[in-house]
Amino acid sequence: MESRTVNPSRGLRGEIVIPGDKSISHRSIMIGSLAEGTTVVHGFLHGEDNHATLNAFRCMGVPIEEEAGGVLRIEGKGLRGLREPGDVIDCGNSGTTIRLMTGLLAGQSFFSVLTGDQYLRRRPMKRVVAPLATMGARIWGRGGGDLAPLAIQGGELKPIAYDSPIASAQVKSAVLLAGLGAEGETTVREPHLSRDHSERMLSYFGADVRPFEGGVSILGGPRLQGREVHVPGDISSAAFFLVAALIVPGSELLVRNVGVNPTRSGIIDILQEMGGSIELLDQREAAGEPVADILVKSSALRGIEIGGAVVPRAIDEFPVVAVAAAFAEGTTVIRDARELRVKETDRIAAITAELTGLGAKVEALEDGMIVSGTGRLAGGRASSHGDHRIAMSAAIAALAADAPVIIADTGCTATSFPSFWSLLESAGGR
Ligand code: S3P
Repeated sequence: MESRTVNPSRGLRGEIVIPGDKSISHRSIMIGSLAEGTTVVHGFLHGEDNHATLNAFRCMGVPIEEEAGGVLRIEGKGLRGLREPGDVIDCGNSGTTIRLMTGLLAGQSFFSVLTGDQYLRRRPMKRVVAPLATMGARIWGRGGGDLAPLAIQGGELKPIAYDSPIASAQVKSAVLLAGLGAEGETTVREPHLSRDHSERMLSYFGADVRPFEGGVSILGGPRLQGREVHVPGDISSAAFFLVAALIVPGSELLVRNVGVNPTRSGIIDILQEMGGSIELLDQREAAGEPVADILVKSSALRGIEIGGAVVPRAIDEFPVVAVAAAFAEGTTVIRDARELRVKETDRIAAITAELTGLGAKVEALEDGMIVSGTGRLAGGRASSHGDHRIAMSAAIAALAADAPVIIADTGCTATSFPSFWSLLESAGGR
């Protein structure tokens, strides 16, 4: 098992370019495969999660070529052109792959089986299986249909209006992708707006997508047209560098090419409210998504209260928010974030254990955490729990700690951010 030692840093300086957004990269393959004609994807994230999606569509007969510079060329097969996969599809660690594909495959005319690694096979699938079943989908899984492997007998679906009890882009996207094959209008409402990359990309490819206050509708049976997609950098990856530059004294870092879609930019609001010096420069748009460069300087942070609508807008960033909170003055309270319990690992338990092990004062709540900032952390040992974002958060904590931190099980960073360690080193992490 791979482990890494991260030393305290004397400052992060210069500029870095953030690799492609994981969520948008998944969707570019799924929607590009369902479109007619060629889709060319620039800035695709070549991480393990996205390769799981890529392999799945290759298994269903979609030609996907990798060209110079990692550009992908997808020869789309149309809404009804996928072929029955000859084997079980392995989604690896990727919740987005398995949940979105469950929706997409429920409306195809063939049988398929989706599975994943030991972590994914513990994560709840009922949240997508239940609404899909009301559309007429036939899906079986362990634990009464809640756990992968999932077996899907595709067939005719009918449209629904679904009131999701949770703000989850994976649930929303699974139902919308199933809705592509249903006749008429499929609607999803959610308690707070989750990331809207599926809606934006489906619309960019020509689907009739209608967002409204509290939800979104899609019309079944569109002809999607292949497009050129420019994937912006992943704000969830940028977040580690934003926090690093804030908490390591003497830092000034320009983080380039970051997607700043308002459904994802909660981390910027949170860190600014904590007193972080963060400036958005050169705001622009790429393939229907807002993009900016972000200038961040070390800052004295203060504790704040976090809850409500900002939570889904920063859902993947709470491990590293907790690191920022440990270095802040005062108490940070995170609530309404029960979803963290069912991510790649139980992130409330994992981050509480790891930060406590480095000397922080963290109390786990059922739906969040209370972090009493001490302004410093000791060195020592940490573990990723097999979760990429816990590994990278521990590395960021180490940069500002009093002594080196040895982090166990760091191979998992390849799922979302294979170049994390080299970028960290180039920016002044050691
Ligand atoms: C994702 C949605 C989020 C997020 C995950 C990626 C997506 O999950 O945590 O990393 O690409 O749709 P939920 O929708 O389950 O909150």
